[in-house]
Amino acid sequence: MRMVRAAWIAALAAGITLPAVAQFARPEEAVKYRQATWSVLNLHFTRIGAMTRGRVPFDGRLALRDAEVVAALARLPASAFGPGTDLPNDHARPEIWAETQRFRELGDRMVAETTRLLTVAQTQDLDRLKAAYGAAANTCKECHDAYRSH
Ligand code: HEC
Repeated sequence: MRMVRAAWIAALAAGITLPAVAQFARPEEAVKYRQATWSVLNLHFTRIGAMTRGRVPFDGRLALRDAEVVAALARLPASAFGPGTDLPNDHARPEIWAETQRFRELGDRMVAETTRLLTVAQTQDLDRLKAAYGAAANTCKECHDAYRSH
């Protein structure tokens, strides 16, 4: 049952990634989209973090729901870094558009690690969740250190 649901979410996420590429009429919309996506992703991601750090009691069902949202949203921001979307008032460093391959690889690693986080959340095993959360959080940090301006 859970595996079926995860597969469905992965299919849904894959399906909405493609239309999202062509969806931005103006660069400002792409910036708003990627910031909003990460903002919502972050909310669900840090809820899992609060459980793995023992700040709130572990609830496997909630962790799984949060992990589903994180895994689905992680696929979205990459499409919003197209040419011409480097605006002065965003927090994306210009290096992104010079080093597109490395930036894409870091994004792919986030997708892989958040997908793994979802798989692990299905086991309801807190120790495994801690490890998977840490691995996913490293991908956020690595990219922010290189490509986010604050
Ligand atoms: C491939 C690079 C990359 C990865 C991986 C990445 N981020 Fe980001 N993130 C960025 C960039 C670049 C920005 C700035 C976007 C902008 O201002 O246009 C950003 C912005 C954000 C923001 C601020 C959004 C806002 O409201 O402006 C949050 C929160 C965030 N990221 C959370 C995360 C989390 C959590 C992860 C890991 C699960 C993550 N990011 C992984 C590159 C990345």
